[in-house]
Amino acid sequence: MEKKKSISAQFKNLISLSVSAGKKAYAPYSNLHVGAALLTVKGRIFSGCNVENASFGLTCCAERNAIFQAVREEGPGMKIRAIAISADSKFPIPPCGACRQVIAEFVAKDKEGTVVIFKSEKGLIGPRIEELLPGFFEMKS
Ligand code: THU
Repeated sequence: MEKKKSISAQFKNLISLSVSAGKKAYAPYSNLHVGAALLTVKGRIFSGCNVENASFGLTCCAERNAIFQAVREEGPGMKIRAIAISADSKFPIPPCGACRQVIAEFVAKDKEGTVVIFKSEKGLIGPRIEELLPGFFEMKS
């Protein structure tokens, strides 16, 4: 019988998948190759890389490409348990503000929440999205 992976083993797996995804990045302008891999609450994994454009503002970050793929596959009920981001840089790559808002859109509102894993000045960290974007915008009916 297959043993269910522990959360920390799954997080390590996400980090290594984000590194592989970053190798596919299309980043001829910044030369910064970013990868993201996410685990959904349902237990599926999706990854993405940054895709740049000569019209710079059209660039799409790795995180958003991974999230949109996850929605495409799981549908509008997709929720993120964890997302790992990595890049081929010496300096830390925290998720940009736009990606924080997009992650927040798919927050898991349960005890485990949504964790964002990335290299900070202090090394690898995994804060919850609410810590990274306090008071994020939501449409409440
Ligand atoms: N980038 C990401 O993919 N994710 C982020 O959260 C920050 C920035 C990409 C976008 C662009 O291709 C390059 O990094 C430089 O900004």
